[in-house]
Amino acid sequence: MKLDDIKQISIIGLGYVGLVTALCLASKGYMVRGVDTSPEIVKSLNHNKIPFHEPQLNDLLKTSLKSKSFTASNDVSEVIQESKLVFISVDTPANPDGGIDLTSIKKVSQDLGAQLDDTFRIITVRSTVIPGTTDGVILPILERESNLKAGVDFGLCVNPEFLREGSAVNDFLHPDRIIIGYLDSSSGDFLEQLYEPFSKNIFKTNLRTAEMIKYTNNAFLATKVSFINEIANICRLTEGIDVMEVAHGIGMDERISSLFLRAGCGFGGSCFPKDLRGLIHFAKEHHYSPILLEATLRLNDFQARYLIDLALSEIASLENKKIAILGLAFKPNTSDMREAVSIRVINRLLQYKTPLSVYDPVAIPNTRAIFGSKLTYCSSIEDCLKDADVCFVITEWDEFKSLTPGQFKSLMKTPVIIDGRKIYDVESFSKEVTLMQIGFKPIS
Ligand code: UGA
Repeated sequence: MKLDDIKQISIIGLGYVGLVTALCLASKGYMVRGVDTSPEIVKSLNHNKIPFHEPQLNDLLKTSLKSKSFTASNDVSEVIQESKLVFISVDTPANPDGGIDLTSIKKVSQDLGAQLDDTFRIITVRSTVIPGTTDGVILPILERESNLKAGVDFGLCVNPEFLREGSAVNDFLHPDRIIIGYLDSSSGDFLEQLYEPFSKNIFKTNLRTAEMIKYTNNAFLATKVSFINEIANICRLTEGIDVMEVAHGIGMDERISSLFLRAGCGFGGSCFPKDLRGLIHFAKEHHYSPILLEATLRLNDFQARYLIDLALSEIASLENKKIAILGLAFKPNTSDMREAVSIRVINRLLQYKTPLSVYDPVAIPNTRAIFGSKLTYCSSIEDCLKDADVCFVITEWDEFKSLTPGQFKSLMKTPVIIDGRKIYDVESFSKEVTLMQIGFKPIS
């Protein structure tokens, strides 16, 4: 199949990954048909509204709806008929044991299999799935439901995504590399043609290796973050060593690189914690206990407690103190609260039965859905800081970075700031307020 044969592309599953893929491909001139089982998502998209916060996506939606290069529907059969390329990007949520729940992907494979006919279509798995899932679970369902042979009557590929929330559109349009796992080489070659305008750095391999690359990528980056967080905690054992400078120094070594060495109060999101647990579960199922991956997770859990311990080292007790929390989303530029560090910090602080005021530019509705009436939700930084005894900075939103020590001092009752993201300059802040920071203790 040649790229010119493609008039229409279908994307099944319109969450973060599916929607970014759909709208970015639509922006490149493809006719993209999206499907999702949720009537709310489909309705919202067809009414020009992205159901979550992601920069640039609203503009892409607007343009592609106008040019009719994107439409959303609830019905797979309606959508795939004209499409020779179908991406599966449904969610693979975590089970309580760390394994992944394949209910959605199995259902989609069934529905899709039932629609396959003698038109050669390429089915591409973009969801993050444990190695062996595409050939061991998805392929047999597709073959059973269609009575066709994978690799002969239809193509099968795995194309993991490396899109970061908050910069997903840019990551799609300017990827540093593309990974393609394929069953039949012609389908692999076809996807390569599709992606060539986006990146020349394309690596093709087998299905399982592509699945493993995705998990390894996230596990490595998460381990890098936990590693620098551990070094940050060690830096604070003495005075005058700033972990940021340490990270800068080691990052100059090309073998290490300075990316993903921002020390802080831990990583969150829907990917790192889930994928680490998924990989650990996979290894254990095969009777191997992964020492390093488990340590990466443990250190990450510890980091939230460490932040509170930092506060306690300064003020002895948190009881009857008014606490302000700046930043709730798992990272800036997203409203996503999944596995956010703020949840771990808040849960621990709630044990002190102390009033908690929280503020985030976009994540308040998602936080309210988790904590209900247990917190005071503020509509501005000022409201949140007013009369507080301690302030925890959990997410490094730009609007927090520009706060001055004078603002903290004038608003708070006692200006004790616990900087979980290392966004303030300790030396200058310390002249006016008490600033405790991850990874640096100034010389006294
Ligand atoms: C991550 C990967 O970066 C993407 O490549 C991947 O496609 C995605 O997961 C996924 O599997 O779908 P994402 O979870 O959106 O993307 O966010 P990241 O930017 O990777 O950040 C993850 C967490 O690490 C955040 O909580 C962030 O605050 C933390 N982090 C990141 C640090 O604490 N320090 C750093 O230096 C970098």
